[in-house]
Amino acid sequence: VLEGMKGLRRGQLRVSVASTANHFATRLLADFSRQFPEVAITLDVTNRETLLKQLDSNETDVVIMGEPPSDMDLEAEPFMENPLVAIASPEHPLCGEESIPLARLAKERFVLREQGSGTRGAIARFFEQHGQTLRTGMEMSANEAIKQAVEAGLGLGIVSLHTLELELEAKRIAVLRAEGFPILRDWYMVHRRGKRSTPVTQAFHDYVLAEAARHVRLPSGYSASGG
Ligand code: PGA
Repeated sequence: VLEGMKGLRRGQLRVSVASTANHFATRLLADFSRQFPEVAITLDVTNRETLLKQLDSNETDVVIMGEPPSDMDLEAEPFMENPLVAIASPEHPLCGEESIPLARLAKERFVLREQGSGTRGAIARFFEQHGQTLRTGMEMSANEAIKQAVEAGLGLGIVSLHTLELELEAKRIAVLRAEGFPILRDWYMVHRRGKRSTPVTQAFHDYVLAEAARHVRLPSGYSASGG
């Protein structure tokens, strides 16, 4: 598919991605840009709430986000799994446990993303669906900050597996084996319904569908199904 697009003329591509998707989106765009050096790319990294505003006001060509809302006129295509895992400092007493009941996990305090984050919304829904109350500790607007806070023992965290790389290998952070985890979500490519595609946006769309998985490094030993 992409071979035919090699001669793609100069054009513009505005991509907006959820903060969490940035952990792979940069690699994805770098490779796309090597294949299509004539295309001027802008990348905006922001949270779910802002992405929805951008879609609404037509400020972006493509959005990469979790679970698009059903009450907006959007076209959305899932292209990759996004597992959310519970994390702790390796010294945390729950780290040795084989199967942590959700009610036990819910006794802990969590360092969470800000309101408006898709990850935050999914976590809140998960606890609610299981009849548990989420005890929120500190709020942080960046996954990197959450990982550091968890490592420092400020609380537990729930983050996308896509945000974890070296922390697990270096044993600075541990993934907990908790009931109901990982929380399975998907990444979607989204644009406004009826938005006219250009050769550039079409090429990017095809590229993401075909190549995304190749640019994603999930930590070894962790699969989406909770291995
Ligand atoms: P977030 O988005 O970075 O806003 O949490 C991710 C998502 O929607 O899963």
